[in-house]
Amino acid sequence: MQALQVTSLSDDLSGCQLVETVIPERQSGQVLVRVHAASLNFPDLLMTRGKYQFKPEPPFTSGMELAGEVIDADSESGFKAGDRVMGGAKTGAMAEYACVPARNLRLAPEGLDYPQAAALGAAYTTAYTALVELGGLQPGQWVLVHGASGGVALAAVDLAKTLGAKIIAATGSADKIDRINALYAPDAVIESNGRFREQVTEITGGELCDLVCDPVGGDVFDESTRCVAFGGKLLVVGFAGGRIADIATNIPLIKGFSVVGVRAGEYARRFPDRGARIAAEVSRMASAGTIRPAIDRIVPLSEWRSAFAAMDDRELVGKVILIPGDSELGD
Ligand SMILES: NC(=O)c1ccc[n+]([C@@H]2O[C@H](COP(=O)([O-])OP(=O)(O)OC[C@H]3O[C@@H](n4cnc5c(N)ncnc54)[C@H](OP(=O)(O)O)[C@@H]3O)[C@@H](O)[C@H]2O)c1
Repeated sequence: MQALQVTSLSDDLSGCQLVETVIPERQSGQVLVRVHAASLNFPDLLMTRGKYQFKPEPPFTSGMELAGEVIDADSESGFKAGDRVMGGAKTGAMAEYACVPARNLRLAPEGLDYPQAAALGAAYTTAYTALVELGGLQPGQWVLVHGASGGVALAAVDLAKTLGAKIIAATGSADKIDRINALYAPDAVIESNGRFREQVTEITGGELCDLVCDPVGGDVFDESTRCVAFGGKLLVVGFAGGRIADIATNIPLIKGFSVVGVRAGEYARRFPDRGARIAAEVSRMASAGTIRPAIDRIVPLSEWRSAFAAMDDRELVGKVILIPGDSELGD
């Protein structure tokens, strides 16, 4: 089978290559899945460089998220051959076949094709964990979402809108504003370069934001500390901008807000019941059509390099999906 392997760590993808390899042997507790679609997530890119918090030793197959068809599973796993599933592990999804722990899989929601199912899980469960579970989002609240063209951020915009919040989407890329607007029509889309508090103040009529969802960090985080309402929450989701910000602890004290660390995967592992409830709720909303993942492009796995480069060059508005082997594009 074809697989995208990281054979050595590199900053320029030179250590990654598409290889012919054997279908992985399913171990007890795992499900063998024929991958119909794999979704690229920012951590996949970081792992090619050895710069993600989880650092697998090369060689390893890239990809933490997939959708596909069950080929083989333990009888007590809850899955059977032919089931349409989604999920993944930290690596292994960008291949024609993957062995995934049964606990990391769930049935793909009805009404979603394989690329949509592959785009749904990580982005929406992260957004849900951040906004709803840890943020306590209520209808009518103001939510500021940074890095708005990204997978997690667009999921947060979509979800917050469905749940009745008022949304300011903030992007560092002015040329993406129209596309973000066209996707989910948030209440406002602003640029997040430099000072943006004045705009947030004006848009919210001086209220500022109850929740700020920040997958970017750095200067965006710093300025966000001026945008959170008293009693609000600044949700630390990631550091796509590359700098981990510092904060003086008198700032949240004086302004009366909380800084909340979001680690969606770990949250679901530590609290499996809550994790299952979050996943079920995301699937329910997707089946009902009240949320829908934004897909920027779908490309064959053989074009993995252009997909990784597009994420690295910050070209995307939404997810990029890779289709391995001879699966139909978009089937
Ligand atoms: N905490 C968790 O549980 C969790 C779960 C999943 C992902 N994450 C983290 O969340 C972050 C976003 O992940 P994602 O998969 O949504 O990534 P993504 O689709 O690549 O989105 C990242 C977005 O961040 C913005 N950005 C700002 N500075 C950037 C830079 N220097 N390089 C690239 N993008 C930059 C861009 O949006 P604009 O151009 O619109 O500004 C970009 O679209 C990552 O740090 C990831 O590790 C955290």
